[in-house]
Amino acid sequence: MDYDGKTVAITGAASGIGHATAQMAAQTGARIIALDRDAGALETMRADFVARGWAITPVEVDIGSEASVRAAVEQCMAAIGRVDLLVNSAGIVSRGMFETTTGEEWQRVLSINLSGSFFCLQQMVPLLRAGTGRAVVNVASLAAKRVSYTGGVSYTAAKAGMLGLTRHAAFELAHEGIRVNAVCPGPVLTAMTQQAIPEEERRKVVAMVPLGDWLRPQDVAASILFLGSPAARMITGAALDIDGGLSLVTGASFESYRNSRQ
Ligand SMILES: NC(=O)c1ccc[n+]([C@@H]2O[C@H](COP(=O)([O-])OP(=O)(O)OC[C@H]3O[C@@H](n4cnc5c(N)ncnc54)[C@H](O)[C@@H]3O)[C@@H](O)[C@H]2O)c1
Repeated sequence: MDYDGKTVAITGAASGIGHATAQMAAQTGARIIALDRDAGALETMRADFVARGWAITPVEVDIGSEASVRAAVEQCMAAIGRVDLLVNSAGIVSRGMFETTTGEEWQRVLSINLSGSFFCLQQMVPLLRAGTGRAVVNVASLAAKRVSYTGGVSYTAAKAGMLGLTRHAAFELAHEGIRVNAVCPGPVLTAMTQQAIPEEERRKVVAMVPLGDWLRPQDVAASILFLGSPAARMITGAALDIDGGLSLVTGASFESYRNSRQ
């Protein structure tokens, strides 16, 4: 994939899947707009990219706030004026059981993982129109189609909603040549999973994956950049599983799921 001369805006760019996507795109010549709420991690990323000779514009944002997204998009408009590919990767995980999930927890996960991606996509449309790439990739999850092992009900619901957002935006924006797709990763070894799943449980997770390994963030990044590229010019509204075959098997037992929370 060649992103030379392209501008790639990535939410959650300071860590994990977003960061791997930023690095991979920058390696082929992209300018990265790195959107994240973690100012310290953004600064570390900026210094690293500059040292490697890669173009980066860091933008601090809390995607859970519509006003914060608006301010960030205005900053992108003033600094660069266009986006060729938008990647919505920012997200959080919450592990509560269904019956004890609080309203506050439900709202927090939905507001970041679902509403945040909606705000970013909606407000970036003028920048996407100004670009030539005209592509959006939403980082959903295998949980969007099944049940999350890492997260709780709010995570599963938010990720399922992200596929609805993807399909609907794809339909409404297709006449302008803007493609909107999603990726549905299985378990990826990132800060999110390392913090949420104890090491012993992580060994059990990998034992469930037919291809016998955790996904690396780069495995997901490669699919994101494929969907964002002209090679995927007739793909829109799709949800691509990247899961080492996990969706082929029946998955974890309820016992194992419950024990992972004790
Ligand atoms: N790791 C996995 O196993 C896995 C599997 C499927 C899907 N996903 C999804 O992939 C995406 C990236 O996850 P990751 O594993 O790379 O996690 P990560 O924790 O490594 O990175 C998430 C990034 O999002 C940022 N972020 C969080 N809330 C934010 C907010 N309100 N505003 C702006 N930035 C915010 C964080 O600061 C962080 O840099 C998430 O949407 C996650 O749900 C992850």
